[in-house]
Amino acid sequence: MTTRLMIKGGVVWSSGGHHRKDIITCEHVIEELRDPGSVPTGEITEVIDAQGYWVMPGVIDSQVHFREPGLEHKETLKTGSLGALLGGVTTFLEMPNTSPSTTSKAALEDKLERARRSSYTNYGFFIGATKDNLVSLKEAHQIPGCCGIKIFLGSSTGDLLLYDPQVLENIFLNTTLPISIHSEDETRLRERRNLRDNAQSVHDHERWRDRETALRSTKMVVELAKKCGRKIHILHISTKDEINFLSQHQDLISCEVTPQHLTLFAPDCYDQLGTLAQMNPPIRSIDHQDGLWQGIFDRTVKIIGSDHAPHTLAEKSVPYPGSPSGITGVQTMLPLMLNYVSQKKLSLPRLIELICENPARHFAFNKGFIAPGYDADLVLINPQKQLTLKNEDMASQSAWTPFHGLRVTGCPDTVIIGGKVAMKNRQVMELATDMSYLNRAIGPRPAIRKPIL
Ligand code: DOR
Repeated sequence: MTTRLMIKGGVVWSSGGHHRKDIITCEHVIEELRDPGSVPTGEITEVIDAQGYWVMPGVIDSQVHFREPGLEHKETLKTGSLGALLGGVTTFLEMPNTSPSTTSKAALEDKLERARRSSYTNYGFFIGATKDNLVSLKEAHQIPGCCGIKIFLGSSTGDLLLYDPQVLENIFLNTTLPISIHSEDETRLRERRNLRDNAQSVHDHERWRDRETALRSTKMVVELAKKCGRKIHILHISTKDEINFLSQHQDLISCEVTPQHLTLFAPDCYDQLGTLAQMNPPIRSIDHQDGLWQGIFDRTVKIIGSDHAPHTLAEKSVPYPGSPSGITGVQTMLPLMLNYVSQKKLSLPRLIELICENPARHFAFNKGFIAPGYDADLVLINPQKQLTLKNEDMASQSAWTPFHGLRVTGCPDTVIIGGKVAMKNRQVMELATDMSYLNRAIGPRPAIRKPIL
């Protein structure tokens, strides 16, 4: 029997504003938007009551580390994707610094097979760039489910690292997939390693990996991209200096920020959270945070991604510099950002642009918009509901959040993925094996239709 849902009585949101509409889905796509009260033709298999809810497109998280294979004690595709679902994320794009690193067709196919068996949500995987896998990078666009190429210009968790300009240029000139970049200058990190080795506390993390480390790398890679005429995307921008610089290069370069860089600031975060606030690139002082918000307001920042990077509490409790870098976030990104909406710091249309529409455009997914023909990935938000973020409610294998105890307003209550109800009133549906319809793995670059809202 054909599955047709009716999401009835909600307020449907996009970057263009809001309308009161009923949504009809057919199998995994949105079929039509109807004026409230009009009676749809044909059989409806389930009606979802959306009275009092905001209906928004499912969130696409453009940067998560789900650690499988090899580091399953920190996270798995199952626990990570469950956190995603609970947080209104219907598609995650996962990074290649697992063990082994995802640098070949075989490694990508292994991840896709694991995700097919265990993911609660849609998924896509990045292939990592090394100095000698150009052939794999060139061919990766043929693998449905490979969403892009990841380049670590500075060393972080794992051993992926590539900063040789000649090799970078070859990759820029000879590949077609979207490129996401971790931008920190490895040479400067090495030159100043004594700052890390002689550190007194985690407060020294941002002194070692300072603003110049980030800016220098970003300037270098932008220059190279311009020389090659190659679009690139720079992840987790951490300095106001980079925002100022990138605001002048938006023709070819896009960038994203994390909710934690928009919320935490030094030194308070290190005083209060210790190594739980340790990540790469680091959380910096409030003037940098202000600069990142400025980038959100003036549209230099195109995407917000969680950079969900779990490590266990035991690993995090090793004194700095022995503690690993990374902060969890896939489950808290949407509630935290909705809290900014409730505080009127950010509008819901702009948030939807940053976490649904722009990631969909950037990666050319048939997602991110509520309009006929798009994948039926939808989130029903209760705008009044308050939620206290708690470690014990995190689905992550590394069950903690730096926002433990924070009370936020705005809660993803019901989630529809590919026209199927995956969570209803916070109740997660059993992981059904028949969830794997074709579109579930991010397919090869479908055409984007214009949204009608
Ligand atoms: O802090 C970080 N942790 N930054 C990264 O780029 C990698 C991540 C991880 O995988 O732990």
